[in-house]
Amino acid sequence: MPRIGILTGGGDCPGLNAVIRSVVLDAARDGTEVVGILDGFLGLIENRTVPLAPDKVRDIIAQGGTILGASNKSNPGRFCTGTQPSGAPAFEDVTDRCMDHVRARGLEALLIVGGDGTMSAAQSLMQRGVNCIGIPKTIDNDLEGTDLSFGFLSAAAVATEAIDRLQTTAASHHRAMVVEVMGRNAGWIALHAGVAAGADVILVPEIPFSLDGVAKAVASLRNQGRTSSIICIAEGAAPRNGERSVARTDPCSPDPVKLGGIARVIADGLQARTGIDSRYVILGHTQRGGSPVAADRTLGTQFGHIAVGLFRAGARNRMAALRGGRFTDVDLAGSIGKQRLIRADEPLLAAARAVGVSFGEG
Ligand code: F6P
Repeated sequence: MPRIGILTGGGDCPGLNAVIRSVVLDAARDGTEVVGILDGFLGLIENRTVPLAPDKVRDIIAQGGTILGASNKSNPGRFCTGTQPSGAPAFEDVTDRCMDHVRARGLEALLIVGGDGTMSAAQSLMQRGVNCIGIPKTIDNDLEGTDLSFGFLSAAAVATEAIDRLQTTAASHHRAMVVEVMGRNAGWIALHAGVAAGADVILVPEIPFSLDGVAKAVASLRNQGRTSSIICIAEGAAPRNGERSVARTDPCSPDPVKLGGIARVIADGLQARTGIDSRYVILGHTQRGGSPVAADRTLGTQFGHIAVGLFRAGARNRMAALRGGRFTDVDLAGSIGKQRLIRADEPLLAAARAVGVSFGEG
């Protein structure tokens, strides 16, 4: 019987279990066995797997997280093994070890469910002849090659609901509330959640802002009689000529700089400039937790189906994708290392501006 492996890499997000379920149930139709690799590439490096039978996955579609576990520090081509005497991390290429495990398990393909870091980590295996089929996952929605990654819509929904809640407390106390959302270098969550929740100001990494611009926008709304304001800011947004706020660094991670903390800078700066009582909230990993929205369950199911179909058709090193409203597949290697950022001609930017949203540029 054909046998394939599946792993979920990088940060977790809602919809991972919908993908796993889809792959296992679809594969079972012709007897294809699915082996779950635990904790992303770490499980492949350490040879830790679990058999995935239909009974194990039938009821997991609504479950958040991933039943396989995830890891974002386990690139086979550049595996962090410890610390050098200088204090710098030591890396080792453990692709050979992974190849041994792929062969020993008889895996004809690896279904790689992940974002850019995970897809990049598949490169050394692809170069050695392993057929890697990608399934695009990220709450950041920044994977090139697909217009939509699963997980994003759930994260945007969580952020929207949180901002809705902050609106009422901001209104009661006549405050400005600064809400920081995730997204790394992309502002998709901030833009979508900000528009959906009726934020007054949206700050994204793609549009440098000035604190004076933010203060002007908030003060102008006050003059028009609006007594509270919501500023929705992406963790990667930075003032013009200024630095991004870094929460911590993780040298072993393919994404070593962890962004976060800009909301406080904005709240403090706004209060100092306008005298308006300002507070900040960092939504953080709340956006990655919990049950996927319906659209991520269907998207995950669809992507899983495409991936199994690609394997059956003998396709090599492709990634399931949604482009221009159509489900399709793209070259996996061609999608690696490029970020899908908000472009100046993004229609939602124009719609946001048309309803009075400021991007803090003034
Ligand atoms: O890429 C997904 C993401 O949630 C980013 O939005 C965020 O910057 C990062 O992962 C957080 O990473 P970690 O889980 O390692 O803190």
